[in-house]
Amino acid sequence: MARLDPHSYADSAQPRVRHLRLALAVSFAERRLEGSVTLELAAASTGALDLDTKGLDRIEVQTADGTQVPFELAPEEPILGRRLRLELPPGTRELLVRYRTSPDAPALQWLEPEQTAGGAHPFLFSQCQSIHARSVVPLPDTPRSRVTYEAAITVPEALSAVMSAGPEGVAAGPAPGTRTFRFRMPQPIPPYLLALAVGRLEARELSTRSAVWAEPETVEAAAHEFSGIESMLEKAEQLFGPYDWNRYDMLVLPPSFPYGGMENPRMTFLTPTLLAGDRSLVDVVAHELAHSWTGNLVTNADMDHFWLNEGFTVWAERRLLEALHGEEAAVLGWAIGENALQESLARFGASSPLTCLRMSLAGTDPDDAFSSVPYEKGARFVHLLERTAGRSRFDGFMRDYIARFRFTSITTEEFLAFLEERLPGLAAKVGAREWLYEPGLPSNAPIFRSPRTQALVELAHGFAGGARPTSADAASWSPAETLVYLQNLPRALERDDCAWLDHALALGGRGNYEILVEWLTLAAGSDYEPAFPRLREVLADVGRMKYLRPLYGALGRSPRTRALAREVFAAAAPRYHVLSRRVAESVMASYEDAANGR
Ligand code: BES
Ligand code: ZN
Repeated sequence: MARLDPHSYADSAQPRVRHLRLALAVSFAERRLEGSVTLELAAASTGALDLDTKGLDRIEVQTADGTQVPFELAPEEPILGRRLRLELPPGTRELLVRYRTSPDAPALQWLEPEQTAGGAHPFLFSQCQSIHARSVVPLPDTPRSRVTYEAAITVPEALSAVMSAGPEGVAAGPAPGTRTFRFRMPQPIPPYLLALAVGRLEARELSTRSAVWAEPETVEAAAHEFSGIESMLEKAEQLFGPYDWNRYDMLVLPPSFPYGGMENPRMTFLTPTLLAGDRSLVDVVAHELAHSWTGNLVTNADMDHFWLNEGFTVWAERRLLEALHGEEAAVLGWAIGENALQESLARFGASSPLTCLRMSLAGTDPDDAFSSVPYEKGARFVHLLERTAGRSRFDGFMRDYIARFRFTSITTEEFLAFLEERLPGLAAKVGAREWLYEPGLPSNAPIFRSPRTQALVELAHGFAGGARPTSADAASWSPAETLVYLQNLPRALERDDCAWLDHALALGGRGNYEILVEWLTLAAGSDYEPAFPRLREVLADVGRMKYLRPLYGALGRSPRTRALAREVFAAAAPRYHVLSRRVAESVMASYEDAANGR
């Protein structure tokens, strides 16, 4: 017996599941998916097969010829869920599992019509990473277990379904007033890349292999924002090798989506907060696209090796940014990332094991371990390898790495062994062991500063001493430059200074959410009342955790803003994604700790 993934009951000594056939009906009234999955095994098998489940009920299991399969559903474990142990009769090749999901399935968010742009129809989306696929399908929920899949999803006829798979057509559903959408994913994916969304959706073609999907009310804005996708795809192929996933489509979700983007293959999921109007936030698309190589082709074996997904992808994202928009744009990306990294190091404490790249998360919920560390520390480590090896040698290494491990899931140690084989001595030269296995940021971490970013940082640091940009200067800043400036200002300002900033940088009217949220964070931390109406709107509508954490955090500074946070949260919480709710709750719990002097 070998349970290799600390977040899964999957046992590598047991039969292997290689293909899923999903048949599910979506009930908005009940907030459930109900139907079945057929699990195809790699070989005729017998004996125990352990699957992961969370919240699934009405389970019935049979073999292809209708024989009932005995099973045992173990008690609920808070992080992992319930182990479903099947006893396969001899010669079992496939299993039909009937079940339904729970209204509280952590992978699924069910939206009321008023949470959508159209306001008339409900919406459903999934978010399976890291370990939530088990709340949608009973399966071995570990990235080590890759599966292909096909699906038939029945939805109310006014709505459409999209998945992380190729569409195979739509037909009238089994019940009146329903339609069934079919999908097929012929490439083996880790379970966390299973994805489904259902809503009133339309598509706009952006190139021969890329379209954007969104509600009719936002689809034109989305098409404008992401019109550059084909040149991004071409650049990425030059850097990392051929795009292996057929189409690259994108879905713009309602604002409660808890992340900026999710790299669901063939259908990247995106927050609508990227729709700035000026394409200034497409780095998130570059990031999700880059996962098509680092993450979706070469996948972390489990969450202990999450940095392999995210560190490489942030590095790849900045290489793409540099190729498309020049070195200065990439430096700004690194400078903005530096800020996020320092915030995470400060939040956990630089000696916390959660600041190691290679982690040991047994007993820890991956959602609680999430931070910028695997992203930004990871990307700095990859950059250091690149700089030390030389760009052209390292680019060759990256293409070999992807070609060698495509469609597999690997550990940090497998990566290190391959690095040593291809670029002997490099790991030792950069101090890879410290980077990977020790907490905090090593002293040879690369520093990214151009004269321009340096000047912005210094100007911001001089704010308390009276330094101000001229309005002509401020007007000449790009959105990323404005953001670097704001991020480096003191966290609490006088009322007059807030008013001055608001006016001088025209902050009220910004479409760029990074700038808007940085401004609202400053305003919240400064108890600056004129910004409260906008702040309330953002907290009520936007579920992106990256924004909720600093906003609720800054509201903790004074009694009046703490009261505001609690009031807004009480009203918004029922409509937040579970993950967003948890982030806000944990931030507000630290208010109490601070008030109690803990
Ligand atoms: N795969 C992640 C999102 C994720 C990570 C979801 C872990 C659940 C668990 C995605 O690629 C991501 O990193 N999104 C970032 C984008 C940013 C780094 C450009 C986000 O959502 O902010
Ligand atoms: Zn990512």
